[in-house]
Amino acid sequence: MANYDVIVIGSGPGGYVAAIRCAQLGLKTACVEGRDTLGGTCLNVGCIPSKALLHASHQLHEAEHNFAKMGLKGKSPSVDWKQMLAYKDDVIGQNTKGIEFLFKKNKIDWLKGWGTIPEKGRVKVGDDVHEAKNIIIATGSDSSSLPGVEVDEKTVVTSTGALELSKIPKKMVVIGAGVIGLELGSVYSRLGTEVTVVEFLDHITPGMDGEVQKQFQKLLKKQGLEFVMGAAVQSVETMKTKAKVHYKLRKDDSEHTLDADTVLVATGRKPFTDGLGLDALGVKMSERGQIETDDQWRTNVEGLYAIGDAIAGPMLAHKAEDEGMAAAEVIAGKHGHVNYGVIPGVIYTHPEVASVGQTEEELKDADRAYKVGKFSFMGNGRAKANFAADGFVKILADKDTDRILGAHIIGPMAGDLIHEICVAMEFGASAEDLALTCHAHPTYSEAVREAALACGDGAIHA
Ligand code: FAD
Ligand code: NAI
Repeated sequence: MANYDVIVIGSGPGGYVAAIRCAQLGLKTACVEGRDTLGGTCLNVGCIPSKALLHASHQLHEAEHNFAKMGLKGKSPSVDWKQMLAYKDDVIGQNTKGIEFLFKKNKIDWLKGWGTIPEKGRVKVGDDVHEAKNIIIATGSDSSSLPGVEVDEKTVVTSTGALELSKIPKKMVVIGAGVIGLELGSVYSRLGTEVTVVEFLDHITPGMDGEVQKQFQKLLKKQGLEFVMGAAVQSVETMKTKAKVHYKLRKDDSEHTLDADTVLVATGRKPFTDGLGLDALGVKMSERGQIETDDQWRTNVEGLYAIGDAIAGPMLAHKAEDEGMAAAEVIAGKHGHVNYGVIPGVIYTHPEVASVGQTEEELKDADRAYKVGKFSFMGNGRAKANFAADGFVKILADKDTDRILGAHIIGPMAGDLIHEICVAMEFGASAEDLALTCHAHPTYSEAVREAALACGDGAIHA
């Protein structure tokens, strides 16, 4: 039996970051991981592989649609799917090996296997029981299931299967117009698949700013994605390598069927805590299966913490990382803090979509007086030069104090641009503070400044 100050269960972005920070703070640390490689959902079957395929398929799209316009002529590239998957796997390998290196560097023991917590302060991995003054649960999440739909990860797949299909399908039906459905739907659409997205609600990406939702859907349609909105999927029938998706339109209960070679089920994710023994320990759980914690990531069991997708809040890698760092600081007796009001969300399609803070709909619901500064990328020279002028930056600021309350961007590099506004919000900045900051020309960032100017006396290039 080994003794540790901290054992982290799960090595995703929450768990591995928590383990590294604990070790940096002088705590003897181990991390339990049941997969063959470190890095969790994010590095193995989530953020990283999906971004590799988005990158590769975007390059193809550029070659097919924009190269000739710039005088770059010649045969556009053909797709070697096996090589594209090998590239994606190589990217995964580099990243997961990177975490292994960081574990060694920080003297963190990787306890290989699935962990359980037989009692307070103990973690069992295989036949070994280890003692820990503190345990951090970072076991992440898994795809939710849908009644009437059986996933085989070949014809009917979750995101995991969609990242390693044996071939590029001719027809794909995506169930759910959320982040996974639209990112992976975009990948296959760019690779030549006919993609139809079936969504239960009347709008895509629930929770996002309404104006962005509309513009985003319009642009995706222009790229060739088809949408069936307000549709409740009843069942999926599989016949060898084909499938039929049966759905009912909510407006009139009419029944319809779509044929597909591949069906991607992307209707959300649920916390994964199976096999940990939380019931026996008496750990408080929410109705949605999340581990309940206080604002310092403590569960109701002494010395037991939980972070990341396994607890409440957005299921995002950077949210898990921030909680991992903060929980480590708390355990080390320091001050750990996460500002949940300033967590950016990004969809890595083309154009990208990014948001932080409140949406217009939320401000209206809260009866908050606000003003809107909006600037279209059509007025941005760099975006025009790069065939990236679709979209806009929208900044929401308090009507009286001018303090920035939220920002919503659809456009080139939106996922990077949003961080300027995150920093501004962390510092309690006004829209005027952003507007008075010199921005280099020609950059996409100028669109952020112009939106901030539009909160005041007006944008220059509008
Ligand atoms: P996870 O990353 O899920 O890691 C948990 C780890 O714990 C797993 O490796 C699991 O094997 C291990 N584990 C579980 N139980 C045990 C046990 N009992 N013993 C030992 N090990 C155990 N988020 C973003 O912010 N940006 C993105 O671009 C993005 N893209 C995504 C794309 C896809 C396709 C998917 C599915 C998700 C994506 N996400 C993205 C979400 C992101 O992956 C998660 O929010 C993030 O991984 C959560 O981190 P975590 O540390 O809480 O858990
Ligand atoms: P999601 O919650 O983003 O979207 C699910 C969609 O499915 C919603 O639009 C919902 O209305 C719809 N839906 C639910 N039930 C349905 C039904 N029966 N029929 C039709 N539609 C239905 O979930 P998603 O896309 O599965 O992603 C899971 C999590 O992974 C998200 O919480 C997200 O935060 C994270 N993620 C983040 C990424 C990023 O940050 N870029 C990328 C991919 C995933």
